[in-house]
Amino acid sequence: MKIGILKERRAHEKRCAATPETVKKYIGLGAEVVIETGAGIAASIPDAIFEAAGAKIAPDAAAATAGADIVLKVQRPMTSAEGTDELGKLAKGTTLIAILNPHGAKEQIPAYASAGIDAMAMELVPRITRAQSMDVLSSQANLAGYKAVVDAAAEYNRAFPMMMTAAGTVAPARVLVMGAGVAGLQAIATARRLGAIVSATDVRPASKEQVASLGATFVAVEDEEFKQAETAAGYAKPMSEAYQAKQAALIAETIKKQDIVITTALIPGRKAPVLVTEEMVKTMKPGAVIVDLAVEQGGNCPLSELGQVVEKHGVKLVGHANVPSRLAADSTALYAKNLLNFVTLLIDKETKQLKINWEDEIVKGVALTKGGQVIHPAFQGQ
Ligand code: NAI
Repeated sequence: MKIGILKERRAHEKRCAATPETVKKYIGLGAEVVIETGAGIAASIPDAIFEAAGAKIAPDAAAATAGADIVLKVQRPMTSAEGTDELGKLAKGTTLIAILNPHGAKEQIPAYASAGIDAMAMELVPRITRAQSMDVLSSQANLAGYKAVVDAAAEYNRAFPMMMTAAGTVAPARVLVMGAGVAGLQAIATARRLGAIVSATDVRPASKEQVASLGATFVAVEDEEFKQAETAAGYAKPMSEAYQAKQAALIAETIKKQDIVITTALIPGRKAPVLVTEEMVKTMKPGAVIVDLAVEQGGNCPLSELGQVVEKHGVKLVGHANVPSRLAADSTALYAKNLLNFVTLLIDKETKQLKINWEDEIVKGVALTKGGQVIHPAFQGQ
């Protein structure tokens, strides 16, 4: 059984789908691991370290994927229309496992099927206890939440903690975190560690207690709709226009007093909700900073720009693309481990061959295509 690892070619992507630790584990499971040269370099893993762990280094993508049973990637393969044909290098029958962005790149799903590739999208891992160690959204969002606060601190021209000095007192920063999921909770914890006064908002009632347990103040419209805002899968539902209007009025009052706003609010498969309007930005203090972690899904603030730090109405808006990749060594280590835990499920311990149980709840959750067909119910007929 051969596992091929490709170098990532998309802009802003520094992560890699394997680490020396996971390579050793795959070899222990009976696999041969072939890694495209330079695949780990941006995550501080030179070829020689992969080789020392037992991997073979391939000179190019074609050699890394030739005869591979499984190909591991971070992002979905590029197509010839995007300038480099990675998809075309995958042979019929290959199992492709990556963050395939099935909602954002629906058109690519039939292409996997017609190429005979069994494509598995790691962001669709169900949120059940058994799959926690495979949950790439959580592993990456946690790091993004931390980095958002560090990025905010770098752009903010004041200090975070209160400092009482002989020359006077430095006031603590006031930080509002919008969306208290995995990224938001880590942002709260990080801002608290830096000494800020932190408040947070979310539409899911379960988040209230979690926010309070991290020492932040919870700010939200807690009406009947709020009590029903969580799906069985643990995600937020899109809120009604009436709720959004009440929420906007509350946020408008809160935001005026903030120095830093970190927005992380997402609804799976949809455009991110607008939580910070231009009118709200105008009311903020000069020098305030907004970090929009939802910028790749359209943004929680319409003024933030993907891949840019811009200043509008005296407020800095930070819209870095691919924030987990800004901590490439750690995000690689956690992502590669998520993949290892998932791939372990697909390998028969006795025969040391790929043996996928297509009835397994986790496999059913992630499998987009199989044997030339689109099989995921959410993406059939695309
Ligand atoms: P996410 O990345 O989809 O969204 C981020 C946050 O934005 C969520 O907390 C969501 O409620 C919030 N949001 C959406 N619309 C909003 C609005 N209009 N205003 C304010 N906030 C809004 O969510 P994430 O981070 O993936 O986590 C969602 C939940 O799933 C959390 O409770 C998390 O603890 C839970 N979870 C459970 C896991 C498990 O059981 N295995 C694993 C990971 C997370």
